[in-house]
Amino acid sequence: MTMRDKLELLQRKRAEAERGGGPERIAAQHGKGKMTARERLDVLLDPGSFVELDRFVTHRATDFGLAEQQIPGDGVVTGWGRIDGRLVYVFSQDFTVFGGSLSETHAEKICKVMDLAVRNGAPIIGLNDSGGARIQEGVASLGGYADIFLRNTLTSGVVPQISAILGPCAGGAVYSPAITDFVFMVRGVSYMFVTGPNVVKTVTHEDVDFEQLGGADVHGGTSGVAHFVHDSELEGLAAIRTLLSFLPANNLESPPTRRCADPVDRRDEALLDVVPENPNKPYDMHDVIRRVVDDGDFLEVHQGFAENLIVGFARLAGRAIGVIGNQPAVLAGVLDINASVKGARFIRFCDAFNIPLVTFEDVPGFLPGVSQEHGGIIRHGAKLLYAYAEATVPKLTVITRKAYGGAYDVMSSRHIRGDFNVAWPTAEIAVMGPKGAVEILFKGDATEERVAEYRDRFAHPYRAAARGFLDDVIDPRDTRPCLIEALETLHTKRQPGPSRKHGNLPL
Ligand code: HXC
Repeated sequence: MTMRDKLELLQRKRAEAERGGGPERIAAQHGKGKMTARERLDVLLDPGSFVELDRFVTHRATDFGLAEQQIPGDGVVTGWGRIDGRLVYVFSQDFTVFGGSLSETHAEKICKVMDLAVRNGAPIIGLNDSGGARIQEGVASLGGYADIFLRNTLTSGVVPQISAILGPCAGGAVYSPAITDFVFMVRGVSYMFVTGPNVVKTVTHEDVDFEQLGGADVHGGTSGVAHFVHDSELEGLAAIRTLLSFLPANNLESPPTRRCADPVDRRDEALLDVVPENPNKPYDMHDVIRRVVDDGDFLEVHQGFAENLIVGFARLAGRAIGVIGNQPAVLAGVLDINASVKGARFIRFCDAFNIPLVTFEDVPGFLPGVSQEHGGIIRHGAKLLYAYAEATVPKLTVITRKAYGGAYDVMSSRHIRGDFNVAWPTAEIAVMGPKGAVEILFKGDATEERVAEYRDRFAHPYRAAARGFLDDVIDPRDTRPCLIEALETLHTKRQPGPSRKHGNLPL
């Protein structure tokens, strides 16, 4: 064979690998409004940046006629590429090959790019479209999943792990994403369940379809499994690129900085009117966040889940920050089970990846009631407290209105190592709200005058400021310059902890 012949053979083999499960299955994939594994990578990565690995890998199984069905690549496209010029490792499952199911070799390919991501300190992005463990391979495929789960766990907090769910994902195909940092889903395309509607019907006699059991809105709004929900694959993949712009490549780096056109000394007159005069009237904390951060640019995480707490990424003077805000417009901003878990996970991500935390606080307390108590609000609320207390990244807090009870302590207070704590003059910092407090103290004698007296004595920030629990009481219009100045001083913050294997987060 001449060199030319050998090159032709190589071309043929490459083309065969790119055909995946064949034209019919590719047409079926397109027919469902889904892109193929390779098309998705083309959208996700900078043009021409993808470098493929292991395209000629085939499975080793022989049962159920598999020996005759060898498809190069074995149902997953793996390699590295760039997003905005920055290195990322990727795998993209090919549903046209055995339903994207995971064989032993398919798992080995994923493990290889995960290992490279850790060794070279770059994010790993998985585009999941898989029927789970490849049934014909039995325990070999289960072992493959376990190898991935172990890597997901050991990689956690070392490099960002991002999962897009782009098909009906079952079994192992959902547990690996669940360990990763962020899960993206697409309406009408993505489904996640431990097991599908047919098995559910057999086991629990419930009649439920794909959408109701594990569609994007269910996981984005009810279960909280999905952090981002989009209307199309294109939007979802573009959003992964946006998310990465806030994140460092690994835990030893700082997040990338951006040139900031928004003046660092910008005062905002409108902040004077955000908090209503009536302390029981709601307002939207998004308004505060957007008016303070660079260019009003806020990437909200878990937008549809536990909306009483807002979390997401933004920038101050070009530096990435993680924002946590109580949302007075939903359940008065109270902390319940879901909000606590949502906040805790976000804070721990930011802490692992050197992203400073900025908290906007207006919280009446933890949600009382039988269902919350029985559901474990004590245990779950403790997660938020633990996460804030444990975090050693710069922690800045602005109390805009209520900081009542345990929630005052929890929300990044000075006492749990808040670095910079300020309040607006509208802040009310007390064990509880005036009405409730007076009813407990004076029982039948809880008059309007006593409520007014309590309000005068406690419902303001100056007692906390007098103790030094607040660093200052600021003009709301100065919030942006004030936070930027403090953040600048905290850039070199060091806070080593005691030596231990790991803490015991209240799970
Ligand atoms: C081998 C599989 C497969 C699997 C799908 N296929 N799942 N092959 N192993 N797990 C194949 C089908 O035979 C079919 O092949 C092709 O993929 C497309 O599948 P369809 O069923 O035709 O597609 P669709 O109707 O869209 O349904 C997709 C699906 C369904 C919902 C994913 O296939 C399904 O329920 N699969 C099984 C899901 C599951 O229970 N997996 C095991 C989980 S246990 P042809 O040749 O017709 O194209 C697990 C353990 C891990 O993962 C441990 C976790 C802790």
